[in-house]
Amino acid sequence: KDGKEQMILDLGQKRFGATMCSTCGMVYSLAEPEDESDHIRFHKKFVECVKFPGWKKENVMQEFHDGRIIMVTEDDHRYAQRKVEDVRELVDTELGFLEGSLACKENGKAFLFISSEKKVVGCCIIEKITKAYRVLTDTDQVSPDSDEDKKRAWCCSNDAVPAICGVSRIWVWGKMRRKKIATRLIDCVKCHFMYGCSLTNDDIAFSDPTPDGKMFATKYTST
Ligand code: ACO
Ligand code: ZN
Repeated sequence: KDGKEQMILDLGQKRFGATMCSTCGMVYSLAEPEDESDHIRFHKKFVECVKFPGWKKENVMQEFHDGRIIMVTEDDHRYAQRKVEDVRELVDTELGFLEGSLACKENGKAFLFISSEKKVVGCCIIEKITKAYRVLTDTDQVSPDSDEDKKRAWCCSNDAVPAICGVSRIWVWGKMRRKKIATRLIDCVKCHFMYGCSLTNDDIAFSDPTPDGKMFATKYTST
């Protein structure tokens, strides 16, 4: 057997033992003790981070039968900002972002969806922007003019369009997806991002969307 063949075999075995935790969403292999201990560590952190017994002072933006949306800005108390940081770290782990690589910008705002079970089940982090690049569908064509353009040519148009609100993270707890939590978060952002006026879909841009993010954004902006 040559090395390549052996490698494929090993990968096959690893995949065979892979499981996904229904709580924290981590994919790990039961056959790998190291994987398992990584999972235990992440699982604990996850459970701790999504706990939300409630705060004395909450900016409740909207209430629903199954929860509420609160907003956290840099004017809020340290403990509130700390919570957002912790949740963002969880989200970044799931999205595969490197630690601290895309830390939140100043003047950012976070919208958290708190379930009736006292858990953070959704999170949307936004920032003020001035322009965005439209994500291209597979049928759109692009001819890159510069190196900068080439870097994003695989997915985005060269022409910037004006936008006001950049969605840097949108996330919903795996168990709670497809219950319109992300939809309600973005609706709420549109109403409350700027004081005294509502945003339209054209004012909002999703940064580096994942496949899930793309599906959601496409559906959201077309309805
Ligand atoms: N596949 C296909 N369609 C989808 C998907 C999906 N994964 N997610 C949403 N949609 C569409 C559906 O049409 C859905 O309506 P339906 O359920 O009646 O068919 C509609 O969008 C509304 O969906 P919501 O229920 O509001 O979305 P949800 O609360 O499930 O959250 C989200 C969507 C945030 C993308 C979630 O799947 C998630 O957290 N994924 C993992 C993290 C991630 O990839 N986030 C996006 C990163 S990109 C960024 O942050 C800018
Ligand atoms: Zn887990």
